[in-house]
Amino acid sequence: MATIWAYEHVNFCSFALLVFGILVFLMFQIVKKLQYYHNRESMVDIPPGSPALPLIGETLQFMAAINSGKGFYEFVRIRRLWYGNCFRTNIFGETHVFVSRTQSAKTILNNELGNFTKRYIRSIAQLVGYRSLLCADHQHHKLIRSRFTNLFSTTSISLFIKHFDQLIVENLRSWEHKSTVVVLDEALQITCKAMCKMLMSIDSEYKLEILQKEVVQVCEAMLALPLRIPGTRFHKGLQARKRIMSLIEKEINERRRGIGANNSQDDFLQRLLRVDDHDKACSDATTSLTDAEIKDNILTMIIAGQDTTASAITWMVKFLDENQEVLHILRNEQLQLASKISTQSFLTLEDLNEMPYASKVVKESLRMASVVPWFPRLALQDCVIEGFRIKRGWNVNIDARSVHLDPTVYGDPNKFNPSRFDDEPKPYSFLAFGMGARTCLGMNMAKAMMMVFLHRLITTYRWKVTDPDSSIEKWALFSRLRSGCPVIVTRISPDSDGFKP
Ligand code: HEM
Repeated sequence: MATIWAYEHVNFCSFALLVFGILVFLMFQIVKKLQYYHNRESMVDIPPGSPALPLIGETLQFMAAINSGKGFYEFVRIRRLWYGNCFRTNIFGETHVFVSRTQSAKTILNNELGNFTKRYIRSIAQLVGYRSLLCADHQHHKLIRSRFTNLFSTTSISLFIKHFDQLIVENLRSWEHKSTVVVLDEALQITCKAMCKMLMSIDSEYKLEILQKEVVQVCEAMLALPLRIPGTRFHKGLQARKRIMSLIEKEINERRRGIGANNSQDDFLQRLLRVDDHDKACSDATTSLTDAEIKDNILTMIIAGQDTTASAITWMVKFLDENQEVLHILRNEQLQLASKISTQSFLTLEDLNEMPYASKVVKESLRMASVVPWFPRLALQDCVIEGFRIKRGWNVNIDARSVHLDPTVYGDPNKFNPSRFDDEPKPYSFLAFGMGARTCLGMNMAKAMMMVFLHRLITTYRWKVTDPDSSIEKWALFSRLRSGCPVIVTRISPDSDGFKP
């Protein structure tokens, strides 16, 4: 009897287990189906993109593009071809959407609904500092920007033009004795000097050389994997940042204590410290910049102003070499101007206003080169762009380069044609310096530097580019020519070139 009872009991348990198993299986299937419908619903109108691997996403492909001669923009270009104007990807564990229509650029850069804020990838923020204009949150950004805007007044720019012209004239003098001149190297030296002089009155060749090397390390780390492991590119960048920070800190301390030759200079640092001390005296602590803010932003200005402008100058020299008819028109304009201005004096802002064609050459070079190829933003809430749903927390990047090369925006976009700027470009189609609240602070300064450089180069030398390679430098945040644009130069003879001083 006990055996039969035990037998029935085992049977019952097996049956119950089987039913339980079937129920669990059915429930699992139902949940899966529901999840599928839910996901399908939420996937329906997000931008197209590759099915990303968890965490890694397309980071490896992104890194491979940075490490190739085509530059990281290649990553964007290929996906635009695959998925269209608006696509989604996953880099460093985050979702990134790229958009490339002028209408989207307008919506995002105008940011009337407050849906977006600027955000660089974490590695960049760690290198320039979280108090940098490039990374600060909305309120913080407003305060810092207002402080720096004053420093870019017309008076400052006029003074800067004179200093910059002086630097160019000195630098170009040495070109004649070189068998080959690498334009990017020279331009980086000049712009680094110009920025350091303007910001902190640094003149010493030794200090400048060290600082330039440190800045290069910071820039090279910007797109690297954010690994704080000694020996990695990122770690080297962080170490370089530390050294730059202590250099600026030393400068601030010396000025506060009244030590050093730069104490009486009227440079950006001195003006920031003056405002700062004045504010503290007025106990208006809320608007004064802290030393940490000053340091992060001095570094930001060096990086934002040096590398970008030097790259733009280099592209401009290459484009002009490839377009001799444009160079001819430009040369005529510049030689005419040269005959009007005194050979003894330096260029002025008024002189630059007399260079309409050079101004268009600068714009066209910036359009074709798109030195800052994309502008990163963070979606603060769910919204719709180009008919696609964008989720809060996603990174949305404006693909300026695609806008600049869009044939529906610029006819024959790959042709270097400065005269296309005879008419004002369509709204939000010329994005070399961005637009809206985050427009480049140094825009007028950068244009002035490019024009001064053009004037002096054209009225001093003829040049020939010896390496026509258009590959982009690896690991560069801004589009830079890998060859650096090597040229051979011949000094212009005033008589044969119609130059009458
Ligand atoms: C040809 C040279 C230059 C180019 C192509 C360029 C381009 C740009 C672009 C596109 C932005 C906006 C990015 C965005 O909206 O996300 C920007 C921002 C900025 N640029 Fe430039 N720039 C150049 C030169 C300079 C110079 C000379 C300086 C300063 C001395 C400078 C300082 C800045 C600063 C501080 C910002 C951040 C502005 C903010 O977020 O409020 N740039 N630049």
